[in-house]
Amino acid sequence: MHIEFQPITTADKASSYAHVLAAVQALTEGERDAVANMANTAALLRESFRFWWVGFYLVRNGELVLGPFQGPLACTRIAKGKGVCGTAWDKATTILVPDVELFPGHIACSAASRSEIVVPLMRGGVTIGVLDVDSEHLNHFNETDQSYLEQICAVLVAGSDF
Ligand code: SME
Repeated sequence: MHIEFQPITTADKASSYAHVLAAVQALTEGERDAVANMANTAALLRESFRFWWVGFYLVRNGELVLGPFQGPLACTRIAKGKGVCGTAWDKATTILVPDVELFPGHIACSAASRSEIVVPLMRGGVTIGVLDVDSEHLNHFNETDQSYLEQICAVLVAGSDF
């Protein structure tokens, strides 16, 4: 039986994100280790929204290196300007990709991923990594995701020792 994907309503989505944001705030009040906080943030997002893949890449010696994540095996290194992650790093801005096949240079870590959002982790105006969220559904992310994921990343960076 094929079950149609039911997009979460904007109100439900905002309310779920508000809980995740509060949880990340609480986590960082009790713990400053960046790996621990990224790991729990990835888990919170994946458990709350059943995203296909949620994880972090960190800037290490001029490239992005895979950090804590939830989901299938992923590419370990991404060059600046490459793929959605490398582009979000290069431009220091969030990138929403409604259809990964239409994003030139998209890096397909998983063939199942159809849409994606990448949010840079900014500290003092410098990008220190990115949060990447992938969905197996087309057009899964909108401005509600962007707004909350940016707030979650800001809380995470402010509350952790990177
Ligand atoms: N799709 C990303 C690569 C990372 S994986 O999706 C986990 C990109 O194009 O940068």
